[in-house]
Amino acid sequence: MLCNYASVMMARDVTTGTQVARWPLHTEDLMLLPLPADDPDPAAFDDPTELRPERAKNQHRTSGAGIHRCVESNLARLELSVALQGGLRALPDYRLDPEQEAKWAPGQIRGLR
Ligand code: HEM
Repeated sequence: MLCNYASVMMARDVTTGTQVARWPLHTEDLMLLPLPADDPDPAAFDDPTELRPERAKNQHRTSGAGIHRCVESNLARLELSVALQGGLRALPDYRLDPEQEAKWAPGQIRGLR
C-alpha cells in the first residue's frame, strides 16, 4: 500500500504564460498541482511505499511547500496525534478486513476509506 501520500492537491491560477516541461501554460489557465505525485518519489524517500513513522528524513509535501506552506501544520500534527490516540483508545482491538479492497476518496482532498 502506498503510505507516504499527501492528502491534499493544490490549484494555482497561471498569471503569466510559460511552459513547464513540454506543456504550454496560458494566462488564466487553472493548474492542478498533484502533491501526492511527489511523495512516492524513490529519489526523495527510501522505500516510499512503506509506512515508516520513524523516518528521520521525511520531507513530504502534505503541508505544501514554499511561502504558502500550511501555517497551521504544527497544530494539524498535534490534532492528528490527539485524534489517533483517541481513536486507538476507543477501538483498541480493531482489525482491517483483508477481504475488503482499500478504496480512496477522490477529489482535491484524498483519503483512504
Ligand atoms: C492535516 C491537516 C492539514 C493539511 C493536510 C493542510 C494542508 C495544507 C496545504 C497543502 C497548504 C498549502 C496551500 C497552497 O500551497 O496553496 C496549506 C495552507 C494553509 N493551511 Fe493547512 N493543512 C492542514 C491543517 C490546517 C489547519 C488546522 C489550519 C488552520 C487552523 C490550516 C491553515 C492553513 C492556511 C491559513 C494556509 C495558507 C497559507 C498561505 O497561503 O500562506 N491548515 N495547508
